[in-house]
Amino acid sequence: MPKILFKPTNRSVDIEKGDNLLQAAAKADVHINASCGGEGTCGKCKVVVTGDGYSSDNRSKLTAEEIDEGYVLACQTTVLGDLTILVPLESELLGKSRGKIKTLTSTLESWNEQLENLPLDPKVFKKYLELAAPSLEDSVSDSSRILRRLQKDLSATDIVVELAVLKDLETLIRDADWKVTATLVKESSHYRLVRVENGNTASRQFAIAVDIGTTTCSGALVDLNKKEILFESSEYNGQISLGDDVISRMVFAKKGDGLQLLQKRAAETIDKLINDLLKKNGVEKNDVDLIIVAGNTIMTHLFYGVTTDRIREAPYVPVFSFGPLVSGDDLNITALPDAKVASFPCVASYLGGDITSGVVASGLIESDKLTLYIDIGTNGEIVLGSGSDWLVGCSCSAGPAFEGGGVKNGIRSIDGAIERVLIERDTYETVFTTIGDKQAIGICGSGLIDLLAELFLSGAIDKRGKINQDLSTDRVRKTPEGGWEYVVAWSQVTGIDKDIVISEVDIDNLMRAKAAVYAGITTLVEGVGVEIGEIDQVLIAGSFGNYIRIKEAITIGLLPDIPNELYKFVGNGSLFGCAKAVIDQGVLLEAGKITANMSYQELSADNKFMEKYMSALFLPHTDEGLFPSVKFEK
Ligand code: FES
Repeated sequence: MPKILFKPTNRSVDIEKGDNLLQAAAKADVHINASCGGEGTCGKCKVVVTGDGYSSDNRSKLTAEEIDEGYVLACQTTVLGDLTILVPLESELLGKSRGKIKTLTSTLESWNEQLENLPLDPKVFKKYLELAAPSLEDSVSDSSRILRRLQKDLSATDIVVELAVLKDLETLIRDADWKVTATLVKESSHYRLVRVENGNTASRQFAIAVDIGTTTCSGALVDLNKKEILFESSEYNGQISLGDDVISRMVFAKKGDGLQLLQKRAAETIDKLINDLLKKNGVEKNDVDLIIVAGNTIMTHLFYGVTTDRIREAPYVPVFSFGPLVSGDDLNITALPDAKVASFPCVASYLGGDITSGVVASGLIESDKLTLYIDIGTNGEIVLGSGSDWLVGCSCSAGPAFEGGGVKNGIRSIDGAIERVLIERDTYETVFTTIGDKQAIGICGSGLIDLLAELFLSGAIDKRGKINQDLSTDRVRKTPEGGWEYVVAWSQVTGIDKDIVISEVDIDNLMRAKAAVYAGITTLVEGVGVEIGEIDQVLIAGSFGNYIRIKEAITIGLLPDIPNELYKFVGNGSLFGCAKAVIDQGVLLEAGKITANMSYQELSADNKFMEKYMSALFLPHTDEGLFPSVKFEK
C-alpha cells in the first residue's frame, strides 16, 4: 500500500493504489480546501507533490508557474506509490482557522426566559425510586419490583426493559440498598427502561441540542431540571474538507467510502461540541441521556449515514423525513454512546429539520402576523406563513459565498475576518474593521455584503458588478488570469502576507448568491398571492444571519426593501428549537405537524423563479423601483 506523508503536519496514511490525494488527506485528517467536493472545478485543493508515484491529468485550474513548481490538484491526482505532499497555506487556510466561531450570547438570555415557560416533559427522563427489599411474602423479580413501582408512579402499564439493564441489575440494586434512579425513554405507546443507577441522580439531568449546519455546527448544553441553556458552542462542520456546500458533499458521498467518511466527520464534529460543552460546565457524561439534532435534509441524511443520491436528481426524493430514535453509538458519537439521539423531521429534499425546528422555535405558528422566516446559510431556506393556518416554504441554493466559499479571500466569521468595510468616495481608499481587532486574514459574510454595497455606492463597480477600470486608484488592477480585482487590504497590513482582494469572479458569485435568496423570497411571496409590502415581520435566522446589516443587505438587493424595523434577528432558530425539544418532547410532535402541513414550493422547476433570479443579478436589481431606499451616491 502506498504511504502518503503530508507536510507540514507530518501526518501519514497508507492508502489503496488508485485513490486520489484528496481521499488520502481525508483519511489522514489533513484539511485541504475542497469547495467542489473533488469535481476538479474549484481549483482550491492545490498541493505540491514530491515523488513519482502519481498521475495527475486535470491541471486546468493551475497556472503555468504553479505547474512548474510541482502543484497538482489533490482531487485530480491518483496515487500510484509513496509520496510526500506539501499542503500550502492557501489550501489549508480554512482548516487552520477552524477554531471557535464567534457566537452571539446576547440571545441566550431571551432564549432561557422562553424555556422557563415550557412544561418539563423530556423524551428521556430520570425517576428516583426507594424500593422495599424482597421478602418471602414479596419475592417478585428485581426488574418487576422496579416496574411495579414505575407503573404506579407513571400511571403506565406498558414498560419495556432493555437487556443491558438486566445484566447488571442483581448486584447494582443490592449495592444501592434498593434506592435507585431509573432512566426511561418515553415512546409513543410505551416507556422503555434503559438504565438503572445507584442512588439518587435525578437532580442531574442534562441534554444536548445540536444544529448541524452545512458550514457550522452549534451545540447547546441544557439543564433539564432548571430548563436552562447553560452554554453554547460552535465548531466548523468537519465535512468542509469534503465539499463546501450540500451539492459537493452529495458528490463526495457517491465516491468510494465517501458516505461513511462524511458520517464520521459529522459525528466527530458533534463529539467535539459535546466534549467542549461538558468540560466547560463540569457535567458528567453519565448525566446526559438525550441529544436532539436539526439540520437540512442532506446534513440529516449524512449524519444518519443514509444515501443522498436521490436528493440530487429530479424528482428530488429523500430517503426519509423522520429520522429514527437511535443510540449515540449507532451514529459513532463516542462522547455519548448510550445517549438517545432524535432529530427534527424534514419537509422535503431541500427544506429540512433546521427549518421545522426554527419555525417551531420562532413562535411563527402562534402569531397572526404575516411572517417571512429566512434562514440564510449555505442553503437559503424561506418560509412564509400566518399562524398555523398556512405555511409555505422553499429553498434556494445560495451557495457558500456569504460564508467565504467561492470567494478568493472569503472566510468565515472568525478572528481576523474583515467584517465591516467603508470606501472613501473620492480616493477609493478602504477603512475596515476585523473580528477581534486582529490582522486581516480574509473577508467574512457581513464584510462581503458591506464591501459589495460600498463598491456599488462608490461607483467602483457598476450595476452588473463589473469593476470600473477607469478609476484613478491602484486598488483596481488586472489579475494574472486577465480579469479585474479590487484590493481591499494591502499585504503590509494583512496577516497572510498577501493582498486581500475581491475579483469580478468573486463579485459574480456573491451576486448569484444574493439573487438566489431574493428570487426565492419574491417567488414564494407572490406564489401565495401577497405583496412584499403586506409582510408584517421578517425573522432572520441562522448563525450567519446574526451578523448581517440590514441596510447593506437591502443595498445589494439581498433582502426586500421594507422598513428596517420589520426585520428581527432570531439567532440560530434551529438550535433553539432543539433546546426546546429536549425539554418538552411536544415540540418535536409540533414539528411533525408542521412537516405535514407545510406546502413546499420546488423552485428548480419554477420558471418564475428563474426569471426573478435573472432580474436580481444586478445591483440592487434590474427594477430599481423595487429598492427606493437605495441611493446611488456617485
Ligand atoms: Fe479539487 Fe475542487 S478542484 S476539490
